[in-house]
Order: sequence, then C-alpha cells, then structure tokens
Amino acid sequence: MTDIHARLRAETREAHEAIERDLAWETRVSTREGYRGLLARFWGFHAAWEPALAEALADDAFFAPRRRLDRLTEDLRHLGLDDATIQALPRPSALPPRGRAEAFGSLYVLEGSTLGGQVIARHIVRQFGLCGDEGCRYYRGYGRDTGAMWKAFRLRLAEEAELSEPDVIVASANRTFDAMRLWLCASSGRA
Ligand code: HEM
Repeated sequence: MTDIHARLRAETREAHEAIERDLAWETRVSTREGYRGLLARFWGFHAAWEPALAEALADDAFFAPRRRLDRLTEDLRHLGLDDATIQALPRPSALPPRGRAEAFGSLYVLEGSTLGGQVIARHIVRQFGLCGDEGCRYYRGYGRDTGAMWKAFRLRLAEEAELSEPDVIVASANRTFDAMRLWLCASSGRA
C-alpha cells in the first residue's frame, strides 16, 4: 500500500464508519420510494461535484469513465422520474473541491464508495427483482472492472501525492466524507 493510501485509509476510517452508520442504507432501500429518494440525493451530490472535479483534473480520459451522474439519471428515469424533475432535484451548497490535490482527496471517497457499492448493488437487484443493470447502474458501478478501476485510481493518486501536498489530499477526503454524510443523511433525503 502506498503512503498516501495508507494515510487516507487510516485518517478517514472514522468518517467511513460514520457514513456507514448514519446512511442506514438497508432501511432506506427497503422500499422503492426510499431507494429512489436515496438516489435523488446522490444525484444532487454528483451534479454539484462532477463539474468541479472535471475542471480541477482537466483529464477527460481519466475522469470521464468515473462520472456517475448519467448512471444516476438513468436509474431515476427507470424508477419513474421525468427529466424535468431530475434536473430540478436539490443540490448541496457545500463547496466542492478546488485544485488537483483536493480533487484527488475527494475522488478517493467517490471511487472508494464503488467498493461497498458492490454489496449494496447485489442487495438491491435481489430486493426489487431488477433485470441486468436496469435501475441499479449507479450501484453496479464498474461491475467486474471494480478492482481494476480502483487499482488504476490508486496509482494515479500515488503519482499525485508526489507532486502535491498529501495533507491537502487527506483533508479534502475528510471534508468530502462529511459533506456527503450531511447531504445524504439530511431528513429531506429520507423521502
Ligand atoms: C456513501 C457512502 C460511502 C462512502 C463514500 C464510502 C467510501 C469508501 C472508501 C473511500 C473506501 C476505500 C477504503 C480503502 O482505502 O481501502 C471504502 C471501502 C469499503 N467500503 Fe465504503 N463507503 C460508503 C459506504 C459504505 C457502505 C454503506 C458499506 C457497507 C455495505 C461500505 C463498505 C465498504 C467495504 C466493504 C469497503 C472495503 C472494500 C475492500 O477493501 O476491498 N461502504 N468505502
């Protein structure tokens, strides 16, 4: 494990535990409405974060496959929301990352979420009897490529940590975890 990855894992452990606890995902996805409400919150978060990440990273080949807003849009359509309703969904007011180091710290959180997402995806597909990826594209994420995508991300992260201030990366990861937790776990997200 590279130094930056070891630091991120250790120094965001509490934040991961907090989001895992407060998200109460099994309860939220126990109904179709609850699942849709959770995806709507994720949509708002990604709508606010992705343009900032794209600008900071300025590397489309790397970032484009990691975007997840379109997947969320497709899932929400599948669950019955029309495009006007989706576009009008609320977005968080927390400030997204600025600059490459902050972007990498933030992306650590978003990319890492694809790991636990595999467990949640299997549960959701079973729960709602979904077919293939329909309605579960967000949580399916990279599917069989999850391990390879995570490895590729960690290599880029290590390169970035050589060039920039690791403290900035770690602080940004913690801020992202907090912003996500507050946003996803706000009472309006439980609709
Ligand atoms: C939005 C909420 C979540 C975020 C942002 C998130 C973020 C992360 C991050 C950054 C990692 C990488 C840790 C590392 O450096 O190795 C990770 C790993 C993991 N997460 Fe989460 N997580 C979330 C929710 C969950 C939930 C609800 C579960 C439970 C199902 C979960 C289960 C896991 C597991 C099992 C791993 C480790 C996978 C492995 O080491 O192979 N996560 N998550």
